[in-house]
Amino acid sequence: MCGIFGYVGNKPARKILIDGLRTLEYRGYDSAGIFTPRGGVIQAVGPIAALEECLLVDDSSVAGIAHTRWATHGAPTLANAHPHHDATESIWIVHNGIIENYQELKEELAADGVTFYSDTDTEVLAKLIGRQRADTLQAAVVVALARVRGTYGLVAMHVDRPDELIVARMGSPIVLGVGSGEHFVSSDPAALLPHTKTVLYLEDGEVAVVSASACNISTLDGVHRQKATETIVGEAAQLQKQGFAHFMLKEIHEAPEVIENAIRGRLMAEEGTVKLGGIEPYLEVFSKLDRLTIVGCGSAYYAGLVGKYLLEEYAGLPVEVELASEYRYKRNYHLGNTAVLAVSQSGETADTLAAVRKAKAAGILTLGIVNVVGSSVARETDAGIYTHAGPEVAVASTKAFLSQITVFALLAILLGRQRQLSAENGKELIQALTELPQSIQKTLALSSYIAEIAKKYAHTRNMMFIGRTFHAPLAYEGALKLKEVSYLHAEGYAGGELKHGSIAMLDAEFPIVTLVPQDAVYEKMLANISEVQARSAPVIAIGTEGDTLLPKTVDDVILVPKVHEMLQPIISAIPLQLLAYHVGVAKGLNVDRPRNLAKSVTVE
Ligand code: F6R
Repeated sequence: MCGIFGYVGNKPARKILIDGLRTLEYRGYDSAGIFTPRGGVIQAVGPIAALEECLLVDDSSVAGIAHTRWATHGAPTLANAHPHHDATESIWIVHNGIIENYQELKEELAADGVTFYSDTDTEVLAKLIGRQRADTLQAAVVVALARVRGTYGLVAMHVDRPDELIVARMGSPIVLGVGSGEHFVSSDPAALLPHTKTVLYLEDGEVAVVSASACNISTLDGVHRQKATETIVGEAAQLQKQGFAHFMLKEIHEAPEVIENAIRGRLMAEEGTVKLGGIEPYLEVFSKLDRLTIVGCGSAYYAGLVGKYLLEEYAGLPVEVELASEYRYKRNYHLGNTAVLAVSQSGETADTLAAVRKAKAAGILTLGIVNVVGSSVARETDAGIYTHAGPEVAVASTKAFLSQITVFALLAILLGRQRQLSAENGKELIQALTELPQSIQKTLALSSYIAEIAKKYAHTRNMMFIGRTFHAPLAYEGALKLKEVSYLHAEGYAGGELKHGSIAMLDAEFPIVTLVPQDAVYEKMLANISEVQARSAPVIAIGTEGDTLLPKTVDDVILVPKVHEMLQPIISAIPLQLLAYHVGVAKGLNVDRPRNLAKSVTVE
């Protein structure tokens, strides 16, 4: 949440800063602002586009800082927009995170005569830095940060040192990009792709003095850190819409490639198993696991729920799935040989990271299923599996969700082969995985048909989603997706739960999306459909090709290719994503940037 970008080098800074913010906009779009030593500060409420006219004004600065905000302290107003400054307007900072003791610090500064122009915790930090009697900005930042409780990714600049950025990190992501005679600072490596693939990751408790030619990193208590650069993967073109109307639609359409990337080099067709390099050193440990706890938030949590069904069914491994935001604050019992597996697209979700840290502190093996390479969850877990879905720009997760389930399928095969899955069944699953991208392609061809269904229901006020077993978490995810991008009230239930309360809501104005593949619970789902039809609720069914009964039974039907039961949730997710997308579009909403949301939830 909140994106920060910094530049110091040999090129005009403003354009670089604004381009950087455009990539980071998914992290928040309540307001945006930049500061350059010669051009001063420019801020605007709303998305980055509002800043663009500043590009017309001459500014020869070759350094600067920029911020796109997801409001935490204070409304999205101009006064609260970053960058913020100290009392003399000499020091300017951009900040991602939360200063938890800002109220206490603010009162202390106010008692000293300091006045404040905003409601933000960041202004308090800027004023605190400005009050330090120190020879350098770095020293002032370090002394001020010693007083701070909370999280920060911070970039500061002093007007007297226009060639230097001070960067610090505690709990919020920061990566430094190394160019030729230039350096960049970003909340997300993806925003560096147009400039460089050579990066240095800052760790919690580190501070960097960054100039065009050098990058000196030390700990907050002054110990020098020598770091090796790392290379990030990806192409800048992935950050463009490439002809699609929205990133969300583009990312849904990337599904076949996403599955190919998730399985590439990992299938061992002859042995009927898979190879997952990142967790290979722990194979022996996995064979002795008594249970696994999966943690995640939002869609990643729902992917974890699908993972539970897959791992229990195919690997015979007992699994529990916990919301990371609950796991981190409650008492957890880990009996026998156990591990905690965090699922996260960004790898920066504060609650997920905190859950990982809690498990680690308890001496439990931690694993990750993560998309963003080099992210905090990826770096802090003992081992992990990258999903390789590529940058996901739209705020609502689509392709990452599919890639997470695909990785769970791979893990279920791997652990299954260690436990109970025959080579023959393993081979069958590998074959099904290989054929999956083709079936996904066929499913995507339903987009305009689904758009018509979406138009029909776009102006309803409520929608319910139901599914059973592997498809129960899909019902939850379908409802979440619809809520996010269309602001419709939607609820997801396991089909069997309906009659325990929520059926009371249904009437002719309350459509219900039913997930009805021809699997072991097909008839149970048909029974659910009859029950809701008896309450006059319109029924949209997502079934499988070849089903002749369903089209005769429901109001609208979407038939997708039938694949192996293990992989059917991946196919079923696509019409749910397309339905949400098309309802959002039919309502004229910005589906890529839904209100009140930010993609990477780095606050708690
Ligand atoms: C839903 C969505 C969120 C994320 C959640 C976790 O479309 O995007 O619910 O799934 O915030 O984010 P990550 O996976 O980055 O930890």
